[in-house]
Amino acid sequence: MSGKRRHFIDHLHPQKVSLRTLNPLATLGFGIAALTCLGTIFVTGLTLFLYYNPDQKHAYEKILHITTTLRYGRLIRDLHYISANAFLIFSALHLIRVFLTAGYKGRKLCWMYGLGLLSLTLMANFTGYILPWDQVSYWAVKVGATLMGYFPVLGEELRRFILAGADIGADTLPRAFAIHVGLLPPLFIILTGLHLWRFRKSGGLAASQEGRGESLPVDPWLYRAEAAVALLTFALLLLAANFFHSPIFERPNPQHPPNPVKAPWYFVGVQEMVSHSAFWGGVMVPTLIAAFLVLAPFLDRSRSPGGQWFSRDRWILNLIFLIIVLSQILFLIVGQWFRGKNWVFLYPFGGF
Ligand code: HEM
Repeated sequence: MSGKRRHFIDHLHPQKVSLRTLNPLATLGFGIAALTCLGTIFVTGLTLFLYYNPDQKHAYEKILHITTTLRYGRLIRDLHYISANAFLIFSALHLIRVFLTAGYKGRKLCWMYGLGLLSLTLMANFTGYILPWDQVSYWAVKVGATLMGYFPVLGEELRRFILAGADIGADTLPRAFAIHVGLLPPLFIILTGLHLWRFRKSGGLAASQEGRGESLPVDPWLYRAEAAVALLTFALLLLAANFFHSPIFERPNPQHPPNPVKAPWYFVGVQEMVSHSAFWGGVMVPTLIAAFLVLAPFLDRSRSPGGQWFSRDRWILNLIFLIIVLSQILFLIVGQWFRGKNWVFLYPFGGF
């Protein structure tokens, strides 16, 4: 400390870091990018909270009011929407990076907290999706909740908990709102704190002794790198808010579903799998993937230290992981862009 008062940020960091930590290829900056999204979500979410009303009669008008008449309302809603989706994407990219570098080695608890964070992120996106209470969000949540119900043991309970009943009803919107703004934010704060604390306690980024290289003071080297990633992420979020707007469609009509009804994009891959087989797509594959992610750090018996990309002695685990990632991306793309009315396959260039 050398006489200098250490503030909060200093306590999250050691005083020195290895050169490897400063190498952009070591983390690709996804963890910090996810944190930046989380910060943006909190700030914009607090603002939206002041104007929204989780009542079925008023929710839709409130969203219209925020979007069309409130000063900066549209930008704040767009930023909230974009950073929520980006948060999910950056968290998934961060997980992929951690897996392919075996960053979980000696950091099993950090990995488990990470999986918890990913589940919270999905839940936050899902409960947020319903809040505009328009035709698309109404039906997407109905389908998404049905898919969630397939998941063994917890699925049906979770579905009923989120919908506040067996199906969407008068209590669904207040329940989703309560989970979205009352339950999840404190859980995010606690779990992110635990995640970063475990990371710090485990000695920072996983690396072999030789791989660590020379050490440099965190202030200014790591701080500058983190600030650069955070600013770049925020700039990208702002730029995206210029091009993509958070949607609002017509009022919900519980009697007339759109055709096709699609789940929110992050569940469309599961929807596509379920369209082939409810048992395999809705139950077995998601369960096996979840089990693989939880058990991977325990199954990994390789000798190479964590922190190396695509280490040879982990090729089987990496291969299984890549097959999972690529197949899920494929299902998602097909479900999102290649399915039309009645879930019929749309050929990309027509004429078939
Ligand atoms: C959802 C929000 C998340 C946030 C904000 C977050 C944040 C971070 C940050 C800032 C680091 C420091 C290194 C870096 O920047 O890459 C880190 C490391 C780590 N994270 Fe996450 N993380 C999240 C989710 C996850 C997930 C989903 C997993 C995997 C299940 C995970 C597993 C880990 C592990 C094992 C490390 C140590 C990596 C190593 O030493 O190479 N995190 N996280």
